[in-house]
Amino acid sequence: MKHKDLLGLYTLEAEEIGEILSLAAKMKALVRAGQKSLDSLKGRSAVTLFYENSTRTRTSFEFAAKFLGASTVNISVATSSVQKGETLVDTGKTLDAMHTDFIVMRHPMGGAPTLLGKTVKAHVINAGDGMNEHPTQALLDMLSMLEAWGTLEGKTVAILGDIRHSRVAKSNLYGLTKMGATVRMFAPRTLMPAGLDCMGAKICRSREEAVEGADAVMGLRIQLERQKAGNFPSLGEYAKYYGVNEDILRLAKEGALVLHPGPVNRGVELTSGVIDGETSVITDQVLSGVAVRMAVLQLLGEEEIC
Ligand code: CP
Repeated sequence: MKHKDLLGLYTLEAEEIGEILSLAAKMKALVRAGQKSLDSLKGRSAVTLFYENSTRTRTSFEFAAKFLGASTVNISVATSSVQKGETLVDTGKTLDAMHTDFIVMRHPMGGAPTLLGKTVKAHVINAGDGMNEHPTQALLDMLSMLEAWGTLEGKTVAILGDIRHSRVAKSNLYGLTKMGATVRMFAPRTLMPAGLDCMGAKICRSREEAVEGADAVMGLRIQLERQKAGNFPSLGEYAKYYGVNEDILRLAKEGALVLHPGPVNRGVELTSGVIDGETSVITDQVLSGVAVRMAVLQLLGEEEIC
């Protein structure tokens, strides 16, 4: 990789995304085969620094680092010196002083990992920054799709839900379009930000238009913690008019993949029948997450800092 840090897919070239996905596919095969004690990052250290809740991302980064032989430490912001008023930059400098090699950070403010990356020697990996990007989530989504199809080129992915607040949607848009896929987006009008068409998205006026003939359908979590106003009347109404159910899914290509970054609100963004359906790869996405994070750690760790 050409960069010290992984901050987003907006700034990555298709070749770099391809390199990560290629290594991640190998890592996934190794983990599937039970090979979880590699030593390519032996002697390195990784800290996960999460200012927001997480199950999948934090756990999979920790497993990924451990599977590659690195030592890992989790910082719980709720019980750290952040609560005593320490700034992000000072926390970063403190971790740098301990010769930390990787800082994996999630933060409610867009751009926070960029600031940290400029401040510390450690490789900073963005594990989700506000409404901006969640690059490893999009990479793992792409890995699951790539494994099913063999290519992303020429495929159509429909992304439905709370696009406005979704860093997952934005990273997928940047990544998938760079890899030659078409991204259709549909959201309640209050949850669709302006300008994504200029970034390559095809903005749709209905669920049907988004899903018709698509190769994959991705639901998004409603980001209730980021809603500043009543953007939709109720969860029931959201599910009825904007969620993905079996009838809507039937409009997609036969065998269309179903994805969701998790955590999923069953019966709201997707019905249980869709979540647990035969073409759902939601569980596979979790394994892809471990593999992608192994690949990112490996590639950042082995490159010279530019
Ligand atoms: N998809 C995702 O980021 O999940 P977590 O919030 O559980 O990490």
